[in-house]
Amino acid sequence: MKVVIGSDHAGYSLKEAIKKHLTEAGHEVCDKGTNDTSSCHYPIYAEAVANAIVNGEAERGILVCGTGIGMSIAANKVKGIRAAALSDCFTAEATRKHNDTHIICLGERTVGPGLAFKLVDIFLNTEFEGGRHQTRVDMMMEIEEK
Ligand code: RB5
Repeated sequence: MKVVIGSDHAGYSLKEAIKKHLTEAGHEVCDKGTNDTSSCHYPIYAEAVANAIVNGEAERGILVCGTGIGMSIAANKVKGIRAAALSDCFTAEATRKHNDTHIICLGERTVGPGLAFKLVDIFLNTEFEGGRHQTRVDMMMEIEEK
């Protein structure tokens, strides 16, 4: 799968570890930065990853900051994007099945690499269920038009 990834300085180390994990699993990873631990601004990377999804450059996205929260708020500002900050396996599965989420946002300060790899694997391997959930996703996206 084509996966786009990005982080700020607080998520850089986990982003690098996830990138290695995904590449080893055979995914094609596009890295939008940041490229070291120098202090930077997370909305820049959230927007770059979200735009890559909207433009069809990648099918799914992963964002990492200190908590995942700033990245998720910023990514959801991009029209058409559904991004979710999460830290447990049940939510990672449910947000794909019910919300057809494009991007998950993880916190390097809240999630260790072992759990992060599991969350990413669940996110990439779970399909949207459609049906009544499609109706709700359509309703969410219509809010953007109001
Ligand atoms: C950076 O210190 C931190 O604010 C950022 O990584 C993120 O956690 C914001 O939500």
